[in-house]
Amino acid sequence: MKVKKNIRWGILGPGKIAHSFAQDLALVDGGKLVAVASRNLKRATDFANEYGAEYAYGSYEELLQADVIDVLYIATPHTGHMEWAVKAMECGKHILCEKPLGINLAEVERMLHVAKKNNVFLMEALWSRFNPTILKVKELVSNGTIGDIGLLYADFGFYALDKPEEGRLLNPELAGGSILDIGIYPIFLAYFILGKPLRIISRSKMYKTGVEVQTSMIFEYSDAQAVLYSGLVSKTEMKAEISGSKGELFIDPRWHEAQGFVLEVNEQREHFNLPTLGKGYSHEIEEVQDCLRAGKLQSDRWSHQNSVELITIMDEVRRQGGIVFPFE
Ligand SMILES: NC(=O)c1ccc[n+]([C@@H]2O[C@H](COP(=O)([O-])OP(=O)(O)OC[C@H]3O[C@@H](n4cnc5c(N)ncnc54)[C@H](OP(=O)(O)O)[C@@H]3O)[C@@H](O)[C@H]2O)c1
Repeated sequence: MKVKKNIRWGILGPGKIAHSFAQDLALVDGGKLVAVASRNLKRATDFANEYGAEYAYGSYEELLQADVIDVLYIATPHTGHMEWAVKAMECGKHILCEKPLGINLAEVERMLHVAKKNNVFLMEALWSRFNPTILKVKELVSNGTIGDIGLLYADFGFYALDKPEEGRLLNPELAGGSILDIGIYPIFLAYFILGKPLRIISRSKMYKTGVEVQTSMIFEYSDAQAVLYSGLVSKTEMKAEISGSKGELFIDPRWHEAQGFVLEVNEQREHFNLPTLGKGYSHEIEEVQDCLRAGKLQSDRWSHQNSVELITIMDEVRRQGGIVFPFE
């Protein structure tokens, strides 16, 4: 069913990313934060007051049962994505769910099944897919500006070993480690630019808590390779590079939230500025709102099939690295 009026958003799990999301939502026309649910009423109330939301709930169930929102943004740790998306979709809510959509392919398939059964919209919040720089880079690759692609390099690393061991990054019970949290970005870039790899070679290192903290990957394509890295053991520059037979593209750091890029052709370098609206979550928000207004149940730009293919690649990376969570 098309949502015509001002789109009413709810947020479930008001943590770090939910704050950034709410700030960007305020910049987007045609939508408004209306409700927030936390496991703790004070956290929900504080968040609602900060961002002007009308309703605050001290449990997730209360928001799901209330008839006050059109679409719900799920911002819990990875382990809550499937559970809460499924429950919310069973209550008829449209969903934008943080990445990764599910922990593994089985979870993602279950979510897609429930979305279809309930006739609701579901999209993975793969915000870099809607980043203006990344869209322009994709266009320049597709129209042959840099010729035949030979290499794609992308990394995502920051130091997280000083974080609490029970927190979501280092705790295996919360599907911690680098791959699902940040490795998803370089994997996404290779998939978005070059497609599904023919072969994957991947090695991972584990931490004392049992989570993976470092993974190096090579994706093989018929005429190209992607060299990818994610890690929680050190900070990396995060300048992605795509090089072809006629030129190169360098995406400004941090490339997953880029504000511009450099194009080099015939030894001439040119820098392009393509600022995001807010931090850049605004672009995925606009996509969701456009889809809801058009009555779509999935985005053509980041489709269910895209989420399936992405998690299938991640499952293979995890298989090669021996990354298994205790609850799987
Ligand atoms: N797109 C991006 O740029 C981006 C960036 C960072 C993270 N993320 C994704 O967003 C999700 C959340 O990340 P975050 O950094 O915002 O995490 P966070 O700061 O820990 O917040 C997660 C929130 O989820 C709720 N929650 C529900 N069950 C929980 C549990 N068992 N343990 C801890 N918290 C629980 C908590 O809120 P209440 O207790 O108040 O309900 C918590 O504040 C992750 O899936 C991550 O991959 C995306």
